[in-house]
Amino acid sequence: MAKLRWGMIGGGEGSQIGPAHRLGAGLDGHFDFAAGALDHRPDAGRAYGQRLGLTPDRAYGNWQEMLAGEQARDDRVDLVTVATPNATHFEITKAFLQAGFHVLCEKPMTMTVDEGEEIVRLAADTGRICAVNYGYTGYSLVRHMRAMVARGDLGRIRLVKAEFAHGHHADAADADNPRVRWRYDPAQAGVSAQFADCGIHALHMASFVIGQQVERLSADTVSCIESRVLEDDAMLNLRFDGGAVGRLWTSSIALGNQHGLSLQVFGEKGGLRWAQEQPNQLYWMPLGGRVQVIERGEAHLSPEADRTSRVTIGHAEGMPLAFANIYADLAEAIRADKEGRAMDPAANLYPRAEDGLRSMAAVFAVAESGKAKGTWVDARPPMFR
Ligand code: NAI
Repeated sequence: MAKLRWGMIGGGEGSQIGPAHRLGAGLDGHFDFAAGALDHRPDAGRAYGQRLGLTPDRAYGNWQEMLAGEQARDDRVDLVTVATPNATHFEITKAFLQAGFHVLCEKPMTMTVDEGEEIVRLAADTGRICAVNYGYTGYSLVRHMRAMVARGDLGRIRLVKAEFAHGHHADAADADNPRVRWRYDPAQAGVSAQFADCGIHALHMASFVIGQQVERLSADTVSCIESRVLEDDAMLNLRFDGGAVGRLWTSSIALGNQHGLSLQVFGEKGGLRWAQEQPNQLYWMPLGGRVQVIERGEAHLSPEADRTSRVTIGHAEGMPLAFANIYADLAEAIRADKEGRAMDPAANLYPRAEDGLRSMAAVFAVAESGKAKGTWVDARPPMFR
C-alpha cells in the first residue's frame, strides 16, 4: 500500500501541539511528512521544516505559498493539518478545501457559527474530508466505551458527566502575562475562553460516547480571576437529543488538576468511568455486580478497541497514539476515496466538520446562557434545528 503524503501548517518549533501531530501522523506508516508551513515567522518555519526532513522546495514560508506550491505538483499532499492559532483556522481550512485538499483542522474549527456552517457546506460540496481534531476520541478505551453504549451494555443512558478542569491559569500574579492574557480577551479569543478551549473537548467526547447530540443547555460562567473578561470556569447542565441528561464542568483555575479530562456514563444497566490521565484503564460497574477494570489491549473487547490498540497489554499508550488513531482513520478514508470503495466502518469514527460546527454553536450558547444567569438556550447550530 503506497504511503500517503501529509502536510502541516503551524506546529512549529516549541509549539504545544505540533509534536503530537507529527508523532501521530508518522506512527503507523500511513503518511510521509512531505510539506509544511510551520511557523508564523517564514524563515524559522522553513529552517525547522528542513531540520525535520522536508525538502527545501516544500518547507514553505507561509500557508499561501504552500497552497500554491502543492497545487502545482502532481505529488501534492493528500492531507493537510491546520494547527495554527484559533482565529486562522477558518481561512486556511476554507482555502485548502476549495483547492481540493483533505483537511484535519485543530479545534475550535472556526470562531463563529456562520463560519462553521460554511465549512460544513464546503466539505459537502467539494466532497473533501474535513476532520476536526478531537483527538482524545482516538483513545482505544474511549472507542470501546462508545461500542459498549452502542451495543446496549449500559441500557438506556440516563446521565453523562464530563469534566475538563485543569489548573494551569490559576496564578493571579501571572494573569497579565501576554501568553495567558489573550485567552481571556474577547478581541482575540471570541465569546468564550475556557469552554471554547477545553469544554468543547469534554462535550464532544460525551456526544461521541453516548451517540447523542446536545439540544439545550444552561451555563454558569465565572471569571474567578476578576481581571479576566471571559470565563475561566463554567458549569453546564445539558439535555441531549436521545433523552440523556448531561453535567459538564470546565475550569482553568483548578489547582492540582494537571490535565483533567474525564468522562462518566450512567445507564440503566451499568456505569462507566474513564480519565485521560489513566487512559489504559476503564472502570465498568454492571448493575448488581462489582466494579471491573477493563484494560486496553485485552482480547475480545470490541472491533473499535482492537483496531486502535497497538502496544501489548500492561504498557502505556498515551495521547500521541490517540492522535495516531485519528490519522489511521483518515488514511483509511482517503484510501477508500481514492479507490472508490466504502471505508471500513470501524475506522469511520473520526470527528468531522459537523462536530466542529456543533461545538461552535455550543460555545455561543454557553456565552448567551452565562450572560443571562443560566437561562436555558438552544445549543444546536441553525443548520441542524
Ligand atoms: P502554540 O502557540 O504553541 O503554537 C502555534 C504554532 O503555530 C507556532 O509554531 C506558530 O509559529 C505557528 N503559527 C502561528 N500562526 C501561523 C500561521 N499563520 N502560519 C503558519 N504557522 C503559524 O499553539 P498550540 O497550543 O500548539 O495550539 C495550536 C492549535 O492547536 C490551537 O488551535 C489549539 O486550540 C489547538 N490545540 C489542540 C489540542 C488538542 O488536544 N486537540 C491541544 C492543544 C492545542
